Amino acid sequence: MNARDGRPVSVVTGANAGIGKAAASALAGLGHHVVMVCRSRERGDAALAELRANTAGSLELIIADLSLQSEVRRLAAALLADYPAIHVLLNNAGAIYNQRRLTAEGIERTWALNHLGYFLLTNLLRERLVASAPARIVNVASNASKAGRIDFDNLQGERLYVPFGAYARSKLANIMFTRSLAAQLDGRGVTANCLHPGTILSHITDRQAAPVRAYFRVFGTTPEAGADTVVWLATSPELAGCGGGFYIRRRQRRLPPAARDEALLQQLWDESERMTAGSASRKPATPGS
Ligand SMILES: NC(=O)c1ccc[n+]([C@@H]2O[C@H](COP(=O)([O-])OP(=O)(O)OC[C@H]3O[C@@H](n4cnc5c(N)ncnc54)[C@H](OP(=O)(O)O)[C@@H]3O)[C@@H](O)[C@H]2O)c1
Repeated sequence: MNARDGRPVSVVTGANAGIGKAAASALAGLGHHVVMVCRSRERGDAALAELRANTAGSLELIIADLSLQSEVRRLAAALLADYPAIHVLLNNAGAIYNQRRLTAEGIERTWALNHLGYFLLTNLLRERLVASAPARIVNVASNASKAGRIDFDNLQGERLYVPFGAYARSKLANIMFTRSLAAQLDGRGVTANCLHPGTILSHITDRQAAPVRAYFRVFGTTPEAGADTVVWLATSPELAGCGGGFYIRRRQRRLPPAARDEALLQQLWDESERMTAGSASRKPATPGS
């Protein structure tokens, strides 16, 4: 691998908390140079200091609000300028929003962050990942996707906004995106997989109702447990060359019907491309081809 100081380079979004921080720590412990992408300077600096104190790894921090496409583009430009090779892209930053609000760029924020953030950053970095092959893309999705519906009239909750529904839709889109991406990257030395990390006690439920928080306190496991499948997908030799899968606890699961519907995959790709206004992505080959 051609990498910084001989280390593989991993980019981890949402790396200051929860699953992202645990994954960043584990990847640094495995000898990767980890670029932590965080939204807040204060929280990012604190997490960077903590991980530097606790691992012998090599880490650095870039600040970006991934719900804003201008920030995703600035982040990608910085990464492309600084890193001749990128070996792992871990799209992890995500949130559930109780109220429907638009970003400053006019996109509903769940869709903007959880789906379009993954879509745009990945497409802006994809040729660098290909040039760095073997490389891997890991998208943190969720079992919440089971409740998701891709309704092109309501992708942004324009007609009806239900917080968990919006989250579930975005997490289904993560799986569908992974499937399309894996098909496009087939044979190019870059794999794309996604996963459900488990029920993890993290900040994601901080603003949820008391019963939801209580459920996570009782049944939730640690961010480190949540990061296990993430890091395994990003690094395990047994996954070399394997893409397009959805995993839970290191086991591949059946893709949801929407992620097996070639026409729907194409439609979502086209719409995501339209909504990111001519990103670096190219027209996909026919998914599955
Ligand atoms: N926890 C679970 O049970 C569970 C289950 C299934 C899937 N997941 C998925 O796991 C991923 C990580 O979630 P988590 O549970 O670790 O939650 P978390 O503790 O809330 O961490 C989320 C991370 O994303 C960052 N983030 C939020 N909005 C951002 C923005 N606009 N720009 C950049 N970064 C932003 C957060 O930064 P701030 O600290 O600045 O907010 C934080 O670092 C998410 O994709 C989530 O959907 C979690």
